[in-house]
Amino acid sequence: MSTPEKSLQAYDHYISQLFAVEDDLLQRTRAVMQQEGLPPINISASGGQLLYLLALMSGARRILEIGTLGGYSAIWMARALPADGILISLEINEHHAAVARRNLAEAGLATKVDVRVGPALATLAAMEQAGEAPFDLVFIDADKDGYVAYLQKAVALVRDNGLILADNTLPDEVLNATAESGTKRYNAAVAAHPALVSTIVPVMRRQGLDGLTISVKRARDA
Ligand code: SAH
Ligand code: DHB
Ligand code: MG
Repeated sequence: MSTPEKSLQAYDHYISQLFAVEDDLLQRTRAVMQQEGLPPINISASGGQLLYLLALMSGARRILEIGTLGGYSAIWMARALPADGILISLEINEHHAAVARRNLAEAGLATKVDVRVGPALATLAAMEQAGEAPFDLVFIDADKDGYVAYLQKAVALVRDNGLILADNTLPDEVLNATAESGTKRYNAAVAAHPALVSTIVPVMRRQGLDGLTISVKRARDA
């Protein structure tokens, strides 16, 4: 089965020009990322609007992001926070974190977003230990082989009825029953998890189709 990539881009353009128009700060963030040599693997504008909407719908006051890059997705989500809301974003790469802090400061979000440098799994373990839970929304978007481990931490750190989101969950491997990938393993782990109600929403990446897995953690007695 071949994907009509051109049509998908055209449909995404239609959605974006209506609902996900980037302001100067989002455009500048992407320009700074390029100047600083960061890869253009941020979510799309329509993906950003979807994260923004999900944060608003869940009434998120505390958001956790795994994989900051240049702060592009963090800006979309932090804009959904109330005045006293916070977003903690985890990033392993010092340079990426520095670029993100600069972009977030220029977007007026320096006090709302806390970028923490280090391997995410270690930071998550420290956060669990320190009692930093609960979060209303967790967005997983770092190394794909880490996703299943991040899911276990996310379930522990998110509140009942909170959201766990994961990017890049419709890789080409989903069309091949014998192919493996980190995000395929993630989707399988989500589907098998008794506390999660989930689906995958198709979203656009640079070229073609990708997915965002959306899960709600149900209360034990729900
Ligand atoms: N969420 C961003 C894109 C993230 S790209 C956006 O949409 O704008 C993935 C990021 O995860 C990269 O910056 C990479 O350095 C980081 N990363 C990779 N492995 C990691 C790990 N083990 N812990 C934390 N961050 C990691
Ligand atoms: C790529 C895209 C992503 O959204 C990501 O998180 C990592 C890598 C990519 O296109 O290579
Ligand atoms: Mg991604």
